[in-house]
Amino acid sequence: MKYLVIGSGGREHCLAWRLLDDGSAAEVYVAPGNGGIEDRFRLDVNISNFPALEHACIDKNIDVVVVGPEAPLVDGVVDYLTEKKIPAFGPTKKAAMLEGSKLFAKQIMEKYGVPTAGHRDFTGQDSVLRHLKTVKEFPIVIKLDGLAAGKGVCVAANPDEALEFVLSSAKEDGKIFLEDYIFGEEASVLGISDGDHVETFIAAQDHKRAYDGDTGPNTGGMGAYAPAPIIDAAKLRRVRDEVLIPTVRGMKAEGIPFKGILYAGVILQGDDIKVLEFNARFGDPETQVLLPLMKNRLGDIIGASINGTLSRHSLKFERRHAITVVMASGGYPGDYPKGKPVKGLGDVSDRILVFHAGTKTENGAIVTNGGRVLNITAAADTLEEARERVYGEIDVITFEGSFYRKDIAHRALKRPMSSK
Ligand code: GLY
Repeated sequence: MKYLVIGSGGREHCLAWRLLDDGSAAEVYVAPGNGGIEDRFRLDVNISNFPALEHACIDKNIDVVVVGPEAPLVDGVVDYLTEKKIPAFGPTKKAAMLEGSKLFAKQIMEKYGVPTAGHRDFTGQDSVLRHLKTVKEFPIVIKLDGLAAGKGVCVAANPDEALEFVLSSAKEDGKIFLEDYIFGEEASVLGISDGDHVETFIAAQDHKRAYDGDTGPNTGGMGAYAPAPIIDAAKLRRVRDEVLIPTVRGMKAEGIPFKGILYAGVILQGDDIKVLEFNARFGDPETQVLLPLMKNRLGDIIGASINGTLSRHSLKFERRHAITVVMASGGYPGDYPKGKPVKGLGDVSDRILVFHAGTKTENGAIVTNGGRVLNITAAADTLEEARERVYGEIDVITFEGSFYRKDIAHRALKRPMSSK
């Protein structure tokens, strides 16, 4: 089989690696890919240009397309390719609204009894500003409807922060909603669906803040590990039964069957499990710790999701642990330089998987090309061992200005780690 993976991050490098590694694929092309993908398999195609993607599929005889990021899903890439008889993995444009519109997701959750934080929605800056004057309890969560590249959510600790976010980010006539803030620990639980049936991945935990101790600005994710012990087997079943299954059934009842990855960002507070958000795709960097532990062939479950035969499969995971640590460019998530040579990639042992994200090749050498540059990943029998493998070798790889968190998986390990 020949696959085309759409996207350019660590998630997409990991998807391509896994499709080849487990024998699902004879060849995997990636558009536009990154420096981790061999030149001849990297397709320089604008991923929002669907006819260009279609032509690339025809040119390379692609059997299946796997869509990584949310934007092309929300823009309808699966509908477009399916219409052209090219099998594509992921939800349709309408189904991807579970990620593309926070308001739509809330409406589905409320209609189908999926536990989620209480909210009030507003149209336009003025109405939310009027309401904010009456809010007495902080923090509150303010969310903009629609995709906002990670910048659509603010946890406002006080009225001034709320005001600043609404004035600087909310459109005059846009949809905005305020959500109750829930104190608790977050986890990512992904399911795969064929529109009817759902299979659940083990839980993972991301680390959104830039710096150790969960401080600093929010990022796309600085590292992850799996399984996350905060979601034990009983809680995982509850997420399946109380969140993933009712959502997939609800979407079907609405006439919008959801195929693809349904990623529930959940928060746990005591025995309570609530959904903070849905994503309609694999998580990044969660994928980099889930796929190394998955026993199934990735191509089999992707095919079953597309063909509606997922009930014939059961997702299975190794009883091991995986951790990934993001090496980022200095300044990320703010401004950062690009083009810094990355050294030492050939010097890490084969116990480490290096997934590229913001890299590219320049004159045959790998240089930085983004904020999150590399995902240094290991799987081992214990989480401690996986962590030691990663942190034992990460400094072999260098680029000017790089930084990484030194406490990935700290919640599971319940103790601070030594500094570098
Ligand atoms: N890890 C966060 C995300 O994929 O959105």
